[in-house]
Amino acid sequence: MTLAQELILIVDDTPTNLDVIFQTLNDAKFQVAIASNGERAIQQIERRHPDLILLDVMMPGIDGFETCRRIKQNPETADIPIIFMTALSDTDSKVQALKIGAVDYITKPFQEQEVLARVQTHLQLRSLTKNLEQQVAQKASELQASQLQLLQNEKMSALGNLVAGVAHEINNPLGFISGNLAPAENYVRDILSLIKLYEQKFPSPGEEIEVKIKKIELKYIQEDLPNLLNSMHDGIQRIEDISNSLRTFSRADTEHPVIFNLHEGLDSTIFILKHRLKATTNRPDIEIIKQYGQIPAIECFAGQLNQVFMNLIANAIDALDESYKYNHKNKNKSHVGYIRICTNLTQQQKVQIIIEDSGVGIPDEVISRIFDRLFTTKAVGKGTGLGLAIVHQIVVEKHRGALNVDSIPGYGTKFTIEIPVTYKV
Ligand SMILES: Nc1ncnc2c1ncn2[C@@H]1O[C@H](COP(=O)(O)OP(=O)(O)O)[C@@H](O)[C@H]1O
Ligand SMILES: [Mg+2]
Repeated sequence: MTLAQELILIVDDTPTNLDVIFQTLNDAKFQVAIASNGERAIQQIERRHPDLILLDVMMPGIDGFETCRRIKQNPETADIPIIFMTALSDTDSKVQALKIGAVDYITKPFQEQEVLARVQTHLQLRSLTKNLEQQVAQKASELQASQLQLLQNEKMSALGNLVAGVAHEINNPLGFISGNLAPAENYVRDILSLIKLYEQKFPSPGEEIEVKIKKIELKYIQEDLPNLLNSMHDGIQRIEDISNSLRTFSRADTEHPVIFNLHEGLDSTIFILKHRLKATTNRPDIEIIKQYGQIPAIECFAGQLNQVFMNLIANAIDALDESYKYNHKNKNKSHVGYIRICTNLTQQQKVQIIIEDSGVGIPDEVISRIFDRLFTTKAVGKGTGLGLAIVHQIVVEKHRGALNVDSIPGYGTKFTIEIPVTYKV
């Protein structure tokens, strides 16, 4: 075992004692520092934290027990192991030493090999403990991450089921209407042409019919009825689009990956966010620029990737809202608000999705924290700080992909996702 470079501080007022231990530890390749009383020791410790302290009990000024207490009171130095060196062989002092936080004690006169063995043991214990603490912290953070994912999956699958259910329920009545609309249009056309024919053959149908024609404004009906049917057509088409988007968006597939066309996912997400793209009192419509390339369908957790698109595009909209507030203040009306969505297949056979906005951008001091759980710059109730943490988890952990962000404060932000076309689930 090599413990070279570790720093041991010896605190003792008797030079002869010091010499012996100094030599032994030095031979064992430790760095050794020396303090001749308690106060000096505390000053030295604050300047540089040793890895272990050998502390004499009887010293002029503050004694070893008091020195130990002060070291333990400071949270920064509290976990440095302290071994007492004592000529007192009575049990009371040993117990007291251990009570105030020493890890061990050695009694004078020293057996050099014993001092060395104890020092090495405690250094090793400390390094193991530190290691363990790190592992526990890491496990705790992994656990937190998987809980977040679990919670999100639950929420998404409950919501997904609801939405899919609603979309399904809408489909039936929608079917009646769209199925009957075409024959209804035919009937109306037939009846209108029949009326025309009547008008030609019987230009003077008599007073009763003429009054009726005037009263119901037959001319207007004849012109308007076809328009009316057309707009019903459009309306139904739109409900069908909504229903399809909802179903694509809410694909309940948290358990198994499916083959998925990402363009469909992006389109359905944009569709669902459509109401947020419309002009508000502060800004005009947000323009969506789609630059879709040739990409294959990929095996993935489709519902989760839709969640990724949703979180990124929603953030882009927030950033654009924010930029208009800012530009308004500065009376700069030339700002153009857009969200550009590009897809490509890279040479490494990865599907690349870029979501770019011309919003406020991300300040340099913030950018390293945006993927942290609960980090948000938005007002309470508006931001949760979970969006990007979830995006990161789904892209990087769930799909073995890469996620990058580039931003120029004041100009905009670009998120780039890369997902391998085939990956092991
Ligand atoms: N497109 C973007 N433009 C500017 N800032 C962004 C953008 N996306 C994310 N951010 C910043 O990252 C933070 C974290 O985002 P997110 O995790 O989605 O949480 P939330 O949106 O709830 O704040 C946001 O509060 C914002 O400061
Ligand atoms: Mg967000």
